[in-house]
Amino acid sequence: MPRKLVVANWKMHGNLISNHQLMIDYLDRLSALNTVDVVVCVPYPYLAQAQSLLNGSVIAWGAQNLSKDSVGAFTGEVSANMLNDFGATYVIIGHSERATAYCESDENIAAKFMQAKSHGLTPILCVGETLIEREAGVMEMVVAKQIDTIINRYGAEIFSGAVVSYEPIWAIGTGLAATPDQAQSMHEFIRNRIASHNKEAASALKILYGGSVNPQNAVQLFRMQDIDGGLIGKCSLSAQEFEGVCRAAS
Ligand code: 13P
Repeated sequence: MPRKLVVANWKMHGNLISNHQLMIDYLDRLSALNTVDVVVCVPYPYLAQAQSLLNGSVIAWGAQNLSKDSVGAFTGEVSANMLNDFGATYVIIGHSERATAYCESDENIAAKFMQAKSHGLTPILCVGETLIEREAGVMEMVVAKQIDTIINRYGAEIFSGAVVSYEPIWAIGTGLAATPDQAQSMHEFIRNRIASHNKEAASALKILYGGSVNPQNAVQLFRMQDIDGGLIGKCSLSAQEFEGVCRAAS
């Protein structure tokens, strides 16, 4: 069975002092857990802190966004090269909180995905539907469009070595996670969608589930065949809770 991947998304939380403590606590609790891959995605100002505390440890780290452009007059943006500069290895792309609040289009997200891949960063592409879309029964259509925009632009090979995270918007931060069956069904759909273009890329693809994962529900979720790990928001802000989720994946 392939190793599971658990990614902490700290979102816009923390400061120098609390991050230091949380990273040290992660290291204390997770260093001996060698059956699961662990990543933490920090806010930009703390990249150097992650670099100095986590480099050479079992915990990989990355950012929560990057620019769709390589370089230039783009005030406030952070490029893939800049993430490379610090030694980041992962980057979250297209999180729904950004897509909603900053109007990120599927086309922009596709360009960011390409930026990450072409700079040796592992993209964690977030896809998922709203509650209205689920209730209308169009969730697969919505997720298919998010995936297809990338495939149509760059080909399905680009998913080789990438990570996709299914994050139903109605499950993020609500305490109402998708059921294991709901998540499995969408994960299988995503894998099949990519497999119809490129079987190798699809079978090696890690598909994470994100949205109100906690140490209790993680056990059942991570048992499902196409759930290769989790993208964890709130529970990742407690080292104890995050350890519980990582243990469920190990
Ligand atoms: P929560 O775990 O807080 O629901 O957040 C999920 C998420 O958005 C991870 O990217």
